[in-house]
Amino acid sequence: MCGIFGCICKDGNVAKLIHEALKRLEYRGYDSVGEATVFGGKIYVKKEQGKIDEVHKLLNLDDLPGSVGIGHTRWATHGAPRRENAHPHLDCDENIAVVHNGIIENFAELKVELEELGHVFKSKTDTEVIPHLIEENLKHGLPFIDAVREALKRLEGSYALAIITTVEPDKIICARKESPLILGVGRDSMYCASDIPAFLPLTNKAVILDDYEIAILQHDKYEIRRLENWEQILREPETITWTPEMAKKQGYPHFMLKEIHEQPIALRNALRLQDLYLDLMATFLDRAKNVFLVACGSSYHACLAASYMFSKLAYLPTYPIIASEFIEQTGMAVNIDSTILAVSQSGETADTLAAVEYARNRAATILGLTNVVGSTLTRVSRVYVVQQSGPEIGVAATKTFTAQLIVLAQLALRVAKLRGKISSQEIKRIERELKNIPNMVEETIRRNEEKAKQIAEKYKDSKVFLFLGRGISVATALEGRLKLMEISYVPAVAFPAGESKHGPISLVEPGIPAIFICPRDETHKTIIGNIMEMKARGASIISVIEEGDEEIKQLSDDYFEVPGKISEVFSPITFVIPLQLFAYYMAVKKGYNPDMPRNLAKSVTVK
Ligand code: F6R
Repeated sequence: MCGIFGCICKDGNVAKLIHEALKRLEYRGYDSVGEATVFGGKIYVKKEQGKIDEVHKLLNLDDLPGSVGIGHTRWATHGAPRRENAHPHLDCDENIAVVHNGIIENFAELKVELEELGHVFKSKTDTEVIPHLIEENLKHGLPFIDAVREALKRLEGSYALAIITTVEPDKIICARKESPLILGVGRDSMYCASDIPAFLPLTNKAVILDDYEIAILQHDKYEIRRLENWEQILREPETITWTPEMAKKQGYPHFMLKEIHEQPIALRNALRLQDLYLDLMATFLDRAKNVFLVACGSSYHACLAASYMFSKLAYLPTYPIIASEFIEQTGMAVNIDSTILAVSQSGETADTLAAVEYARNRAATILGLTNVVGSTLTRVSRVYVVQQSGPEIGVAATKTFTAQLIVLAQLALRVAKLRGKISSQEIKRIERELKNIPNMVEETIRRNEEKAKQIAEKYKDSKVFLFLGRGISVATALEGRLKLMEISYVPAVAFPAGESKHGPISLVEPGIPAIFICPRDETHKTIIGNIMEMKARGASIISVIEEGDEEIKQLSDDYFEVPGKISEVFSPITFVIPLQLFAYYMAVKKGYNPDMPRNLAKSVTVK
């Protein structure tokens, strides 16, 4: 996730305005920053690796000339956080500057094609193909706007773009597909940004762009057109009434809720990772004599779910291990034939890194899955992938958890392919299903938010909760319980439903809420028996069920319905959503701030 900003004024210099707006976008990424303006037939650029304040101290971002400019604050995806990879990116003749948020999936092919035509690339980014594509189109005599339009038609993936040029120096061209982009309409000035807070101190009039729309900004007007047929779209600005605090959270009361709602985007991004690295990881996993999945907290729950995915899809046994126990529990069994897949959102969790260090010293192969480019985990891993969820500010993991799951699912599928364990027909079906999961998550959030509020209201004074699941849903139960406990401070226990009768059922007394995770998978019949056991002893049954599961609905006091059919191995991705919402509303109703639970930190760098 990166932040982009564009600004065009009647007169005066815009560089300082861009700098200030980038500060407000800094939460979207902060490993490099850059600005470009157009003035007197020339593009001026300043960019560098580092946080905005550091770069400003070094370069002074405020003295670029001109009243038209763009800026970018980067969360590295393709290419390390270095100067040459910082945006804006330019064409060969330095007449076009582009800032981009998103991922161009087919950049590698486009780059080869453009290099064959003589274009020289300076960065490792996916973005740089865009100015070169536009430049190439200009060479063929197209007017600038058409050159942009034709370039956009070649791009696969996601983008929010702001483009300036010496060819039409009084304009900013922006475009959007699957990455946010909003126009700000000022008096004698026009803005575009990744989110509203970037321009809110300058104007409260906003126009939200939709996918496949291009906007042409001049200081006194904007024109929106549909990419496909160039049809003009007339869209009046809306007035934004957010306070500055609300604006940072894009109108949501808390980052956690914002991040719950960002899951469809985070999942789409996680489905666009580079094949090369996923394939490489899959090869290491396939070849290892033993595979350990090592992590803490929510990331451990993702590993637990992944162990079912690897087993069920690829017939690969793996050991999910809590990182702080790794050395004691399995240390002596780790050797040169072992592969450790370490999963850490921050890439800095001390327990996970200690396990990795130990395994490295025993010559094991280290693979990393993280959300933070340049984190320690990326530096100590033989191969790593960055899940591209964007910064997560709420302490409780939400979007990064489901994104970890979908990356691990892709890895399991790749290992399955390598091992020839599933037919090509089945692979195709699963790939289609994976692609649709972000939509299912979107729908699950939509349908369950009100319900979560109501159920939280009903149970907010309960003193203890039980979370139960079978099969892969044990991981979902554990994650639901962790969410509830850590932000609403209600004690909760989670265990495989089959274990009830071996002890925990003695906790049950009338009215105790028992939350059952019940996808319609092979465990469905058995879990009905477990529900009955609890019900018979007076527990209040709250179930998370597949849409239309009348059998379990009948047995439940309250239920969350998850729309659509989902394969068992992917079910934690949708079934955890109502539990996240429930935990969130429990915390809010109890008067706690879910973003900053007591005693916790986002990144745990002590053992
Ligand atoms: C829970 C939560 C923590 C983290 C854990 C590991 O909501 O966020 O349990 O999952 O501290 O953190 P990472 O993934 O950064 O290693």
